[in-house]
Amino acid sequence: MKILKIAAALAVAGLLAALGMVYSGAYPIGADVPHTRAVFWALETLRERSIAQRTQDIEVPNLDSSDLLLAGGPDYNEMCAGCHLKPGKTSSEISKGLYPAPPNLAIAPSEDGDAKASAARQFWIIKHGIKASGMAAWGPTHDDARIWAMVAFLQKLPTLTPAQYQILTARSGSEMDHDDMDEDAAPASDAHDGHDEHAPMDMPGMAHAAETPGARSAQDAVNAFTTALKTGDAAGAALWLAPDVVIYEGGEVERSRSEYQAHHLAADIAFMKTSEIQILKRDGGESGDTAWVNTETRVRGKSSKGRDIDLLSTETALLRRTAQGWRIVHLHWSSSDYPPGS
Ligand code: HEC
Repeated sequence: MKILKIAAALAVAGLLAALGMVYSGAYPIGADVPHTRAVFWALETLRERSIAQRTQDIEVPNLDSSDLLLAGGPDYNEMCAGCHLKPGKTSSEISKGLYPAPPNLAIAPSEDGDAKASAARQFWIIKHGIKASGMAAWGPTHDDARIWAMVAFLQKLPTLTPAQYQILTARSGSEMDHDDMDEDAAPASDAHDGHDEHAPMDMPGMAHAAETPGARSAQDAVNAFTTALKTGDAAGAALWLAPDVVIYEGGEVERSRSEYQAHHLAADIAFMKTSEIQILKRDGGESGDTAWVNTETRVRGKSSKGRDIDLLSTETALLRRTAQGWRIVHLHWSSSDYPPGS
């Protein structure tokens, strides 16, 4: 009995002390003074327990498609990068001043837990925000599909170079208005060649983000193809190629999409993934249902034998307008040492 009484008295004293602390105004609320250890622990534990409780039943859709990346990238760049940074940027005025500090989402988290759990957690945090921090709830203004597209982008973000980030987050003028994106901008489902696990429309409530920005113009289709190669998304890359595409690469010829998929595609992905690509010059044009996009890039990386390479690479892409949007019907790649004439 005595022990119970002492415990009760201690609890009351503790409560009063806490109330006194709150009411006295002694605790520093300024964002430029960190929390005490006890308060930090309490808030951190509260946040993590609360989020864990609420993410248990979230079903993570298939996030592995270049269309999602291309939909989530521009949103991230416009709404999030100011606080959460991007490849090549380690702080911003706001990221330095906020407390708790926004984590740098362009670097991989230290604990590499399970990807599904991390995606569900990110989805929940983006949708609902976190009280008493700079993290807003984006749910009231963005539907689930758009939030999942940002999650898809976040999962790839730590692996992107500054140049890749630039490609993935570019928004072309015509798709600024998300609400009137038309259906036929989405890649054809008949172009999947059995790679249905990468189908852009395979998630519930996904219609919005699946209306891919990638096919708005011939240049967007070329960008989406390049991005898929850079992010290792073989099926995503194939979506942008017409079945009868002809590819000239370093003097070799591939006469169909399936031939390319069976041969050079994997090597191109391996090469693109590890190299840095900088677009130096691009132009193109359009006539009826045909378009061309000419691109000069500087490519730096390692050859398959580990030799440093620095190349001027030229690409001619010829595209055809289909019911599903622009598709590449011819690609011609060649390269020489950079700078030209060296
Ligand atoms: C005004 C600054 C600010 C903006 C803008 C912002 N966030 Fe945050 N975000 C924060 C802060 C601060 C935290 C940390 C909150 C905490 O630890 O309690 C956070 C936390 C997060 C987390 C959890 C990270 C982790 O692993 O703990 C994710 C995910 C996230 N934000 C995504 C986004 C996305 C996506 C956007 C854009 C739609 C965005 N944020 C916009 C400030 C911001």
